[in-house]
Amino acid sequence: MADNVQINIDGKIIECPVIVGTEGERAIDISKLRTQSGLITMDPGFGNTGACQSAITYLDGDKGFLRYRGIPVEQLAENSTFVETSYLLIYGRLPNAQELEAFSDAFNEHSMIHEDMVNFFHAYPSTTHPMAILSAMVCAMSAYYPEFIKEEPTKQEINRIAVQLLSKVRTICAFSYKKSIGEPFVYPRHDLHYVHNFLNMMFSSPTNPYQIDDDVVNALQMLLILHADHEQNCSTSTVRLVGSSHANLYASISAGICALWGPLHGGANQAVIEMLEMIHKDGGDFNKYIAKAKDKSNTFRLMGFGHRVYKNFDPRARVIKKCADNLFNKLGINDPLLDLAKRIEEAVLKDEYFIERKLYPNVDFYSGIIFRAIGIPLNMFPVMFAIGRLPGWIAHWKEMIDDPTSKIGRPYQIYTGSLKKDYVPIEQR
Ligand code: CMC
Repeated sequence: MADNVQINIDGKIIECPVIVGTEGERAIDISKLRTQSGLITMDPGFGNTGACQSAITYLDGDKGFLRYRGIPVEQLAENSTFVETSYLLIYGRLPNAQELEAFSDAFNEHSMIHEDMVNFFHAYPSTTHPMAILSAMVCAMSAYYPEFIKEEPTKQEINRIAVQLLSKVRTICAFSYKKSIGEPFVYPRHDLHYVHNFLNMMFSSPTNPYQIDDDVVNALQMLLILHADHEQNCSTSTVRLVGSSHANLYASISAGICALWGPLHGGANQAVIEMLEMIHKDGGDFNKYIAKAKDKSNTFRLMGFGHRVYKNFDPRARVIKKCADNLFNKLGINDPLLDLAKRIEEAVLKDEYFIERKLYPNVDFYSGIIFRAIGIPLNMFPVMFAIGRLPGWIAHWKEMIDDPTSKIGRPYQIYTGSLKKDYVPIEQR
């Protein structure tokens, strides 16, 4: 395997080192290319660009697999908990029993949000999207815990903010839902585990305590684990880019939440259900919509299909589809949208347009159907994705801060505007 790649630019040979990852994947290190040749590389959407080296998550988009710290995500989805998986991502290995207990205890210690912050919820109009509330609240946490806002926080301080964020974000999300339906907030309880606690804060009311259903808890646990990291996706790259200026963890995560909100990323789970509802209401003729998605003069896309990296089945989608079937059987739910989704998937997998472009169902195609069955409202779906992705964002921010070679993110551009011209005073224009 070559150690270097030679690039011939106008007869001048530039040697670029080849970097090899632990799974054998290779990259050409072009970091000296501009200083040696004056040329930059152009890669809109970073479809072919590695921005860092990372030891957190490995995925192979052609083979369709995903591993956190080396462990296949299917194994974690089956056997782990979200709290344990968060520890794995952030600290690089599975915790032992004492470490897990201490980590879980810290979640309880940090589960409340400052009572003054509770007032913020009342200031938002009821039409506010919960992602807007979440990103603003996470950034506002920096005002309540200013002792952590420093350029070089210690390891202990980073650990404390990490647990604080993981625990408080869950409370913020549940409170924003309660606010949107005009019900009193339900405070976190120390006797409940992470997912139980969240469901209790979401669905208990003074007159009607939430009855915990283990199947629902397990399904949500599994969904959070499957969302927990996905290497350099749009929101994680945002967290890294913002953090690369040494912005604090709250500010970096807040930016990641905004990036996740978009319908091409974490907002896709909401968009999938809206699309399925639209097709269902329109009589269920999904072929019409598949044709629309293929029509290049139309901007409509089949939400929940396609992925920048997966050119084979998204392994998360397989697990989620199976979970949806099991959950619906156990709870005796018959959701016409699940049947519709399956029929669309079947048709798409046989369709030449989608086969040629390797467009498969992604994580968002079936996750919304499960969130819906659990009773999570539609506009909270991206919020559920954010709760799940939080340990991944924290792990990446921490990895970047700990890496002495990391630099501020600052891409170049090729300028296409007008050439130099003089300012013309307003009366002469
Ligand atoms: N429906 C119809 N055509 C599609 C779709 C789709 N959902 N996705 C991609 N294509 C076509 C696209 O038009 C292009 O065709 P052509 O080569 O003829 O120009 C080709 O497939 C490649 O698409 P692309 O837009 O260049 O691919 P990308 O890697 O830039 O975008 C994507 C990836 C996920 C943004 C895109 O597939 C998409 O918009 N999907 C729908 C939204 C969605 O489900 N997003 C969730 C992603 S998974 C969760 C996450 O990581 O956030």
